[in-house]
Amino acid sequence: KCAAGDSQTVVIGLAADSGCGKSTFMRRLTSVFGGTAEPPKGGNPDSNTLISDTTTVICLDDYHSLDRTGRKEKGVTALDPRANDFDLMYEQVKAIKDGIAVEKPIYNHVTGLLDPPELIKPPKILVIEGLHPMYDARVRDLLDFSIYLDISNEVKFAWKIQRDMAERGHSLESIKASIEARKPDFDAYIDPQKQYADAVIEVLPTQLIPDDNEGKILRVRLIQKEGVKNFSPVYLFDDGSTISWIPCGRKLTCSYPGIKFAYGPDTYFGNEVSVVEMDGQFDRLDELIYVESHLSNLSSKFYGEVTQQMLKHADFPGSNNGTGLFQTIVGLKIRELYEQIVATRAETPVRSAKV
Ligand code: ADP
Ligand code: G6P
Repeated sequence: KCAAGDSQTVVIGLAADSGCGKSTFMRRLTSVFGGTAEPPKGGNPDSNTLISDTTTVICLDDYHSLDRTGRKEKGVTALDPRANDFDLMYEQVKAIKDGIAVEKPIYNHVTGLLDPPELIKPPKILVIEGLHPMYDARVRDLLDFSIYLDISNEVKFAWKIQRDMAERGHSLESIKASIEARKPDFDAYIDPQKQYADAVIEVLPTQLIPDDNEGKILRVRLIQKEGVKNFSPVYLFDDGSTISWIPCGRKLTCSYPGIKFAYGPDTYFGNEVSVVEMDGQFDRLDELIYVESHLSNLSSKFYGEVTQQMLKHADFPGSNNGTGLFQTIVGLKIRELYEQIVATRAETPVRSAKV
């Protein structure tokens, strides 16, 4: 029997506040891997897990140690580390990474209770998504790659209004109040994780319209850490240069306020990074091919793959702007990272036997 190292699971962490596009991102990611992620068959219908051929996505809410009543009694939010069991999170992610199946708890979002556990078998790729994938140093060290979705307050507000007011009938006041109530814990426990991320997708209001506060047109920045194993940042035109690019004109249809790209080196929490930025939105998604042809190091398998993926999921939120574009690119990067890790293992079949 081969050592567990042969089938070792690659572990990806995706951090963001809830309602910030994690599930949309996961749908784009599993699509890049050629599958659709579905809830596990035959298990608890309230399971938060998604499984495809290659990838299992677990939601870290399942590691809540306090259920809804418990949180209320103790006066802590779900964002508070005291409401979460990091020991169990660490043990189980480690076990999966070592090729061992685990019985993971299920947090039921409907009842607010912890349901009986479900069996999680080691997949090729495990994504842990939620509020705290990079909070605990032990869990963080298990990650082969980490992503933080950094949605600015203005944009978060606009998205929440769209969802909670339009779809769930909440009032503007109650949405404001719930964002405000979460903010101290968000700032204390969630936001600081972005310093550890290998890639950050930062979503800001546009700068193309003066004093815009509608949150409809977005300026999105892909912040990529330099020197990360198996990850080489995407660039625009010339690696390491500082570039500003307005592609609107003969080849790209842009209505008001247009599209602006930027690229260049920067520092982020003391780390060297490369940043690609897109402000504005596409009028015609098929013309994205023109932008794609100017981006390098995309980790695509063929010319036009980014555009093809974006067109395939044109109905997902963010498909006409930098959120969809950069999520798709990060998906390609993760595929390459996975393939490189597997290839490296194949070259060194004799792994140091751990005693
Ligand atoms: P999460 O899994 O983090 O809770 P979702 O992916 O379900 O987030 O997205 C929650 C809501 O936020 C969506 O229904 C949509 O209204 C909005 N949203 C997410 N991503 C985007 C985006 N890129 N552009 C616009 N709205 C978005
Ligand atoms: C989950 C989400 C949190 C959300 C919570 C609801 O844990 O990830 O973002 O706040 O559910 O908590 P509540 O205490 O309102 O049931």
